[in-house]
Amino acid sequence: MTIDPAILFGTPTPRVDGVAKVTGAARYGSDEPLASPAFACLVTSDIARGRITGFDLGAAKAVPGVLDILTHDTVGNQVKTPPGPDGGPTPTTLESDRIWHDGQIIAIVVANTFEAATEAVSRVRVSTVSEPPTASFDSPGTEVKAVAAARNGSAPKEDQTAKKAAADAAFAVAPVKVDARYATPPQHHNPMELFTTTCSWDGPKLTIYEPSQFMWGLKSAVARQLGIDPSDVRTVSRFVGGAFGSRGNVTSRTAWVALAAKRLGRPIKLVPTRAQGFTIATFRAETRQHVRLSATADGKLTSVFHEGWEVSSRPSSYKVAGNKATSRLYAAPSIATAVNVVHADRATPGFMRAPAETPYMFALESAMDELSYMLNMDPIELRRVNDTQTDPVSGLSFSSRLLMPCFDQAAEKFGWKQRNPKPGSMQDGAWLVGYGCATSFYPNNIGPAAARISLMASGRANVAMAAHELGTGAYTTIAITAAHALGLKVVDVAVQLGDSDLPPVPAAGGSNNAASTTHAVVKACEEVRRRLAEAAVAAEDSPFHGADPATLTLVEGRLQNANGQSEPLSRAVPRTGGRLEVYAENLPAGLPASAMAQLYDGRAMMSRGDSRKDVTAYAFGAHCVEVRVHSLTREIRVPRVVSAFASGHIINPTTARSQYMGGIIWGISSALHEATEVDPASARLINTNLADYMVPVNADIPSIEIIMVPEDDRRVNPLGVKGIGEIGIVGMNAAVANAVFHATGKRLRELPLRAEHLL
Ligand code: MOS
Repeated sequence: MTIDPAILFGTPTPRVDGVAKVTGAARYGSDEPLASPAFACLVTSDIARGRITGFDLGAAKAVPGVLDILTHDTVGNQVKTPPGPDGGPTPTTLESDRIWHDGQIIAIVVANTFEAATEAVSRVRVSTVSEPPTASFDSPGTEVKAVAAARNGSAPKEDQTAKKAAADAAFAVAPVKVDARYATPPQHHNPMELFTTTCSWDGPKLTIYEPSQFMWGLKSAVARQLGIDPSDVRTVSRFVGGAFGSRGNVTSRTAWVALAAKRLGRPIKLVPTRAQGFTIATFRAETRQHVRLSATADGKLTSVFHEGWEVSSRPSSYKVAGNKATSRLYAAPSIATAVNVVHADRATPGFMRAPAETPYMFALESAMDELSYMLNMDPIELRRVNDTQTDPVSGLSFSSRLLMPCFDQAAEKFGWKQRNPKPGSMQDGAWLVGYGCATSFYPNNIGPAAARISLMASGRANVAMAAHELGTGAYTTIAITAAHALGLKVVDVAVQLGDSDLPPVPAAGGSNNAASTTHAVVKACEEVRRRLAEAAVAAEDSPFHGADPATLTLVEGRLQNANGQSEPLSRAVPRTGGRLEVYAENLPAGLPASAMAQLYDGRAMMSRGDSRKDVTAYAFGAHCVEVRVHSLTREIRVPRVVSAFASGHIINPTTARSQYMGGIIWGISSALHEATEVDPASARLINTNLADYMVPVNADIPSIEIIMVPEDDRRVNPLGVKGIGEIGIVGMNAAVANAVFHATGKRLRELPLRAEHLL
């Protein structure tokens, strides 16, 4: 890249799509106006395991306006099973009479109106044979499978048995040690926008309007399921009302709605209920974890052992294996990990904001806090003693690691110095006061991406790419990048996203999209500049005639040389033949040339910060949090958070602050509020609504201060963009738990932290 990222990034910029969003002009999936749509509603299973023996559809079909009812015995062989988030199959819907989990889609009713479809759903009678289901850990009938070391991600080619023996030996002789078990609950996605699907056919051409984190992935996955050519499928998702991993993988509903629309010959809209969102989309699985840390008397770790157990469905071996991350956080001579998948009669889990790090860092960062008290050492100092610029698992250097500057700046602003280290020693009236901290980090991923840019003689530009606006501010970051690279104002750049007719970018997951999209946009802008410059130096009427095109730059809507001579775009652009349109691809270093073709085929290969050959690339952060625990009721409040992050160049500090803050809020929610209750007898979910599924409200959310520690890392990628979508949540649950221990002297190792556990 020849463009300096300092020119591109760092100017606080309001969202370019803000007005459209707050005025209702922004169109979400189910907002699409279509001619004469019919409406689908879902019939879902009320048992978690068993078989369907028959349907009585008479009463449902008798509801005026009912047009069609799809069941496994009428259409079960017409759609192929979609790939699950682990790549394996995820049978969930109408393929057979088999019921795999509570709330599985077992029939789809289509009617002229939403009301008729809803009414008919209530009249569908299903006969089932129920088998005793397995709900979760501790239920009879779980099947526990150890994940092979080669797939558990810690150190693929090394022998974990030998590593475990070495860690055990170091642990046995260490003067200070922690040996503790932790648990995290299932959590379900509740984005504002429901899990809708709208499908419309025009002859062989299918258009799908559905909130998605991966336009090209959805396109090709649904094409494969329906057995049609991907070029006949278009996916549209211009705005997404929250995603966080829930719209990363294709789920079963989409292809079935497409099939229903094909059978009927009319567009169909499906807007499932809030409760159905708990069972037709993926979720964050519950985990159990075992951590053993040993250290010298001065706090240096001598061994780290971290084992996890994660619930999955019967057919899927989906897991997050977060100890791939935790094992490389601190310097230690002996590190071992293990992961186990615990199969139960549950839906297949999937991604949720920092899928791996959120649960696993709760355990590691709680254990580090426990170790600090055993050592009688400040927990921040314990992190300093074990800080490292070298990935202890791979031996590679971190591309950059400003963990301790993050701790120092957060601690300074927070007033960490005022902390009396003795648990239970700080009190304010009826409230026990606790200060806690934790490390945050997240790997830096980047994938291949493409962009199309056109520049008009008027000095306005269009950027088009199939990127995703999940609420993250993607329209704005892309507009900023293109505007600054082309020497234009942000308002003069129009951005089109969320449409598979546009050039592909990877799934908006793993915090990659900021890095992936900006590199493709800058490449396209550089090509625009090159073409303008070459046309200018070749033209006799240009002040740059005969000059070296490499010396010309785009500044304030003009083509300019080093002496400040310039000419307006209204002269420069027409020379290129009128409208100047450029298509460019960016293939990140370390990826094979085939990665772009794979992307066009709906598969996103990624250069991953934790598996590169040259460096290990992570962003780092530090949380400091104050909690107050009422001395009588044990109510837990969080009045104050200060977090600092070093995450490379920040494209737009305005939206970055919101991203960090959103992560922190979800981290508080993970610590104190969120859990899906699974009935141990029926394996059904209990609190499938926003009244009983606890999420924080404004009164729960404190003052949150964000510090963005400047970081210029050109080893992570040429523009030094690290991505910030997930790092905010990581470690936050542990920081709160650690503060609760400091306030009360009581260590809670299971989330969410509850008042009754402190009594
Ligand atoms: Mo995310 S959980 O990588 O959408």
